[in-house]
Amino acid sequence: MARPSGGGSRGRRKGGSRGGPSSGAGGRGLSGRNLKVRVKTAKRRSASSARWLERQLNDPYVAEARKRGYRSRAAFKLAQLDDRFRFLKSGARVVDLGCAPGGWLQVVVERCGRAAHVVGIDLLEVEPVPGAHLLVGDFLDDDAPDRLKAGLGGAADLVLSDMAASATGHAKTDHLRVMALVEAAYLFAREVLAPGGAFVAKVLQGGTERELLAQLKRDFARVNHAKPAASRSDSAEMYLVATGFRGDPEPSP
Ligand SMILES: C[S@@+](CC[C@H](N)C(=O)[O-])C[C@H]1O[C@@H](n2cnc3c(N)ncnc32)[C@H](O)[C@@H]1O
Repeated sequence: MARPSGGGSRGRRKGGSRGGPSSGAGGRGLSGRNLKVRVKTAKRRSASSARWLERQLNDPYVAEARKRGYRSRAAFKLAQLDDRFRFLKSGARVVDLGCAPGGWLQVVVERCGRAAHVVGIDLLEVEPVPGAHLLVGDFLDDDAPDRLKAGLGGAADLVLSDMAASATGHAKTDHLRVMALVEAAYLFAREVLAPGGAFVAKVLQGGTERELLAQLKRDFARVNHAKPAASRSDSAEMYLVATGFRGDPEPSP
């Protein structure tokens, strides 16, 4: 796979301008101005897979990710969130939960530089990302937190979660499953974050559950919800961005 263009291993805060999806403000301004590709349903292609293919072919972020060597269009979401909230710091210790196929990891390594410690986990195997330590497994397994901590080798500056449970099509069930992953990620984050650290996680529209939000507000100086431009408007996903971890949290319930 082609390496992402620009950025390289330069620490972003020291290096100034950033390459990859960060250049051009995380790919902002991309539009579907090119001719629209239409996909017909064929004998062996269902209407829904034809719709998916048509969307992929007409999605400027898919094309841009391919051009720049990013493994997923999701790379742009992280870049755009970081352009706004500035949580990727040079030399940071970062955990990426649900990291396959590795688009976020590529952005993290690019922006945090060579001195960073980056650990990712996913149910799926991920093709190696230079500069990142990758684990295969279920984050909800009992041994996952210790495996991640061992890979990190110190308190984390940032915990990312883009984990998504496969959709059942039943909105309430899907919401509960995503929120269960967010809550588990948050409990892990408050255990491993260094004071001043940040937590960024995918949630569903409607935002974060009231109780979790209240806890986050106690633990972090700033808590925001954001929908980056690269997140599809017809998707219910949005991102929780909590920065300025206060440290020394009360024991979790
Ligand atoms: C939207 S994808 C992540 C995309 C990634 N951020 C990127 O940029 O390439 C969500 C990932 O979460 C993973 N996932 C869901 N539940 C998980 C769990 N319990 N433990 C580990 N990974 C999980 C899925 O396997 C999937 O690869």
